[in-house]
Amino acid sequence: MKRQSLIAFDSETNVFHLSNPLISYVMKIEESGVLSHIHFGKKVSNYTDNKKYPRRDRGFSGNVPLHEERAFSKDTLPQEFSGHGSMDYRIPATIITRENGSSLLDLRYETYQIIQGKPKLSGLPQTYILEEQEAQTLCITLKDRDLPIYVDLFYTIYEKRGVIIRSAKYRNQTEQTIWLDKAASFQLDLTNSGRFTEVIALPGAHARERLISRQRITEGVKSFESRRGSSSHQMNNFIALTHTHTTENLGEAIGLQFIYSGNHAFEIEKDQIDQLRIVGGINAYQFQWQLSTNEAFQTPEMILSYSDEGLNGMSHIHHELLRERVTRGKHQYEPRPILVNNWEATYFDFTSKKIEALIDEAAALGMEMFVLDDGWFGKRDADTSSLGDWFEYEGKLANGLKGIAEYAHEKGLKFGLWVEPEMISIDSELYRQTPDYLMQEPARTPAASRSQFVLDFTRKEVRDSISQQLRKILDEVPIDYIKWDMNRSLSDVYSAYVENQGEVYHRYVLGLYDLLEELTTAYPDILWEGCSGGGGRFDAGILYYMPQSWTSDNTDAMERIDIQYGTSLGYPISSMGAHVSASPNHQSGRVTDLKTRGDVAMSGVFGYELDLTALGEQEKRIIKEQISTYKEIRQIIQQGKFDRLENPFEQNIAAWQFVSPNKKEIVVFMARRLTSGQPPFHEIRLVGLEEGMYRERKSSLIYSGSELMTMGIYLPDFHGDFQTEIFHFEKIVTGEEEENASIN
Ligand code: DGJ
Repeated sequence: MKRQSLIAFDSETNVFHLSNPLISYVMKIEESGVLSHIHFGKKVSNYTDNKKYPRRDRGFSGNVPLHEERAFSKDTLPQEFSGHGSMDYRIPATIITRENGSSLLDLRYETYQIIQGKPKLSGLPQTYILEEQEAQTLCITLKDRDLPIYVDLFYTIYEKRGVIIRSAKYRNQTEQTIWLDKAASFQLDLTNSGRFTEVIALPGAHARERLISRQRITEGVKSFESRRGSSSHQMNNFIALTHTHTTENLGEAIGLQFIYSGNHAFEIEKDQIDQLRIVGGINAYQFQWQLSTNEAFQTPEMILSYSDEGLNGMSHIHHELLRERVTRGKHQYEPRPILVNNWEATYFDFTSKKIEALIDEAAALGMEMFVLDDGWFGKRDADTSSLGDWFEYEGKLANGLKGIAEYAHEKGLKFGLWVEPEMISIDSELYRQTPDYLMQEPARTPAASRSQFVLDFTRKEVRDSISQQLRKILDEVPIDYIKWDMNRSLSDVYSAYVENQGEVYHRYVLGLYDLLEELTTAYPDILWEGCSGGGGRFDAGILYYMPQSWTSDNTDAMERIDIQYGTSLGYPISSMGAHVSASPNHQSGRVTDLKTRGDVAMSGVFGYELDLTALGEQEKRIIKEQISTYKEIRQIIQQGKFDRLENPFEQNIAAWQFVSPNKKEIVVFMARRLTSGQPPFHEIRLVGLEEGMYRERKSSLIYSGSELMTMGIYLPDFHGDFQTEIFHFEKIVTGEEEENASIN
């Protein structure tokens, strides 16, 4: 069968049309080479170009320079990428300053190229392809009207995904130096703001990450951003545009997700005639990139998804893309081990004896990995010292680190280790020997946070010294998993080794990516987990190197429902670490049943984080059951299709479901927070099932798929606060289906 091209250019209408069966993206070269945006959304068949953008002479919206048509203005025309200073008063995608101090930039179409597949970016995380045929990339080059300053706009479209991947490359071909003061990855101008009236963002705080905030888009500019040097707990780099009527399963949604781990900004402007402009990429705050003659700057990628199947439809696109074409390596689809982490069991206060006792219990309970958290290196007994000293704390573990790792292996468990490579303590060998490795303006006291400071990762020699230490440990100790933590935001962002200080934030992130690429490539068997005081750097950039991340330091089951629900908007379940911890919970003090804690954590990459040696017999029995249940449903949870059913941000209950890749099994999670004297009944309706009959495992009750979807089942008549339940349905395979399956 002949493959259809995914990208077409019509030289009569000057229209570019990127399309697959799900989406279309349409642009047009207007008069004088202004590149306009026409459509991003559902697939359009047989586009005629007869729906012209209306031309109207609007007061104070002047004309395109060198084009004297009064009704043609950059101030209203939807555009693909805007420069600065030629009568477009909306937020620009880029600001470029030249040696004479001018930042005027008037971008016009220059040329285009269609590339089979997708070119690789160097030094950045990115979406990838497995074979050339699965995607095509359009590169449109814009050029300043007068000067050889170019912006290459990249658009990749996959054959079967509802996404466009965008990025921009800025090139300086002038004889002089220029400075990028703002270098967005994308701009999206939407003509009819009646279609997208709301924005969903994922704000939060430490131990309260990625909570859903849905807001009406009003006049003016609204920005969702991080200035902390990382993607941050406070504002994740994922947003969605929706209509007021968009629900989990119905209506239009556009998802915007940045594949980057540093400062970001999404700016949304509703203009004078109710049109929307969205610009996103690296935050312009404290950013300035110097480009000498013939130099170029490549931005990180932005994922633009479109779904007309509600927020769940949008999330499916991001889940599948991140799982299949962003995460990499041996563990991408592998069942992730059920772990126990000693952090909340011991904090810094542990001995070999204590750790071995935890390992013994973990093995007896059926767990699969032991993770030794903070406190094993330097002279680390508190969070005030030793960061940067990635050698074993002599004498703290009587049998040594290797002894502990071997002990875990003897007991049939994998062994994992915690590190925080980007940081330095003043009380450390590293600081005593190389104080200039600390990021600061020389002779100016930097701000501490958690008594620690940031290493200047813009410098290769700094990264190399950390890499050498880590490699020694990784070579000497049999390690199966690494938890890579980062426990503060950047401050005092200055490097005496970088010529232009506006580059330090981004060069730090590039340095981090460089080290992550080096280590994850050198140790491909290790399962790497990202962490930043919980979920402070939970982003698509980190997932390119490490397929999972610690979701939050908050392990309170009730708060976790919100955190996991919000996170699922843009991130696959296989990326979310979720652990059962002690009750009362260490963060909130809330008391919940072990069952509740287990049920919630089982909706992620499951593990434990409590003192196993302090468990009673009854608790051990429950934990054994949880572990055996999770082993049965693990691949449905980690690799299945996830749908949100009931939104805990709107009500006292929550529900979600997972459908196995072969569609034969469904796991449903339900929760109710607070009880009441006369609780209402709730019917929970499932989605996306096949025809046929399903048996629920615990009750053995049989339901038809159609019944489960149209009528649903009742939320259990719970008694008391903080109650949860998990249901596991299996499709009853008929003789005929079995036969068909064996033929196929
Ligand atoms: C923050 C992490 O999120 C915790 O899980 C733990 O590893 C601590 N850091 C250790 O310092």
